[in-house]
Amino acid sequence: MDNFRKVPWLVDEAVEFLRTEIEKGNIETVLEFGSGASTLWLADRVDTIVSVEHDPGWYNKISTRIGTKSGADYRLRERPYNSVCDENLPVDKFDLVIIDGKDRIECVKSSHDMVRKGGYLLVDNSDMDAPWSPEIFDFLKSWKRRTWVQSGPDQEGHVAPDGIKWETTVFFKEKK
Ligand SMILES: C[S@@+](CC[C@H](N)C(=O)[O-])C[C@H]1O[C@@H](n2cnc3c(N)ncnc32)[C@H](O)[C@@H]1O
Repeated sequence: MDNFRKVPWLVDEAVEFLRTEIEKGNIETVLEFGSGASTLWLADRVDTIVSVEHDPGWYNKISTRIGTKSGADYRLRERPYNSVCDENLPVDKFDLVIIDGKDRIECVKSSHDMVRKGGYLLVDNSDMDAPWSPEIFDFLKSWKRRTWVQSGPDQEGHVAPDGIKWETTVFFKEKK
């Protein structure tokens, strides 16, 4: 039986936010740091996803599952992997950037300029006890934001470890 996650490993309401924005046509291009179920789910729904991974074993596992999904551009890179922002990318502005892996502060600083006007920068595990959150929130303090908290098991039954608050925040880039 295949018990691999079917939906991104984010707070449920953040997944629903993404689903709605994709259905409205507001998200067609995605840059993601930290791959997994989100990569597969997004590759089925958007035109282009560039996903960056540091772990070769995980990369091989997800690569097999990506197979021939046409819009997926999956890159294995050494840390700190925010350097991917200096590489050739299929577009110069993305509708959505997802920060859900390593080197989170560096990834925010290198990629925030790559979000299009009116686009989104999503940070998972954005509770203030997470070591990266204070600096990321300060860096993006001029952006509007929305945070969702997962208070019980998520839609796949995952529960955050004891004592850990699980939050996902989407930062909104100004439209003009
Ligand atoms: C929080 S996970 C990324 C999750 C992904 N964005 C998603 O929504 O499914 C961050 C990193 O943990 C590792 N990882 C994720 N799921 C894993 C698993 N089931 N087993 C081992 N490593 C995993 C990968 O290196 C990944 O880049």
